[in-house]
Amino acid sequence: MADRPNAKPINGFDHEIDVRNVSFAYEPGTPVLNNINFTLHKGKTIALVGSSGGGKSTIADLIPRFYDPVGGSILIDGQDLLDVTVASLRGLMGIVTQESILFNDTIFNNIAFGSEATPEQVERAARIANAHDFIMQQPNGYQTTIGDRGSRLSGGQRQRISIARAVLKNPPILILDEATSALDTESEKLVQEALTRLMANRTTLVIAHRLSTIQHADEILVVHQGSIVERGNHRNLLTLDEGFYRRLNTLQQV
Ligand SMILES: Nc1ncnc2c1ncn2[C@@H]1O[C@H](COP(=O)(O)OP(=O)(O)OP(=O)(O)O)[C@@H](O)[C@H]1O
Ligand SMILES: [Mg+2]
Repeated sequence: MADRPNAKPINGFDHEIDVRNVSFAYEPGTPVLNNINFTLHKGKTIALVGSSGGGKSTIADLIPRFYDPVGGSILIDGQDLLDVTVASLRGLMGIVTQESILFNDTIFNNIAFGSEATPEQVERAARIANAHDFIMQQPNGYQTTIGDRGSRLSGGQRQRISIARAVLKNPPILILDEATSALDTESEKLVQEALTRLMANRTTLVIAHRLSTIQHADEILVVHQGSIVERGNHRNLLTLDEGFYRRLNTLQQV
């Protein structure tokens, strides 16, 4: 997204992100989001759940301005995102998505991601992300190259590299789009632990396919066909008879 001529850098995040009456379409005439409203307060976690294609990733993509709303507005500490420079806005955010952006370089450089981090700092982040042990098993440790888009790593390993990158950046705001691809139980546990550590004391928008990830979220938004159809915490949502969330929860009980 290009900056407006009068856009100003934003230097910090103090209060909330306010999504107001937002609608969106990738192509004119095909609405993907309708009248989305929520407020993400500093230090809280909001989770998005719902069926595939409902619009969760699209909502998440509007916060760092990968796209701008077609209608409504998004405010950060009272300022319209459109009046803030994109670089400064993204500087406040750590983004771990379904397709983590890894490049064909060493593990070290993928975690450091252009920062001047020392080997000690990179290792510390990798340990928090449950990545240090598998990195040490690679032929050249942190200096191992990971192939095009990280093709020499498993899905869970790629995710943990991108979590380490976010840990190192230490941003106030996190956007997490949980991978849909099934991880084996052990790998899933490691990723889950790493995400929990990453989310502590931060402001997080998390998209979860496994409800276990988001049971403790402050607010859960159920997104279906471009609208928020239910909202509440885990406990409240389970009381809704015939509720979408309740059905999802039942499906995931093993
Ligand atoms: N780049 C794009 N161009 C056109 N349409 C898109 C694009 N990305 C997503 N869509 C469409 O927008 C709708 C919402 O997609 P989105 O990726 O936000 O869903 P989601 O809830 O994240 O799904 P999932 O759970 O499968 O990740 C879908 O109908 C999808 O086909
Ligand atoms: Mg998605």
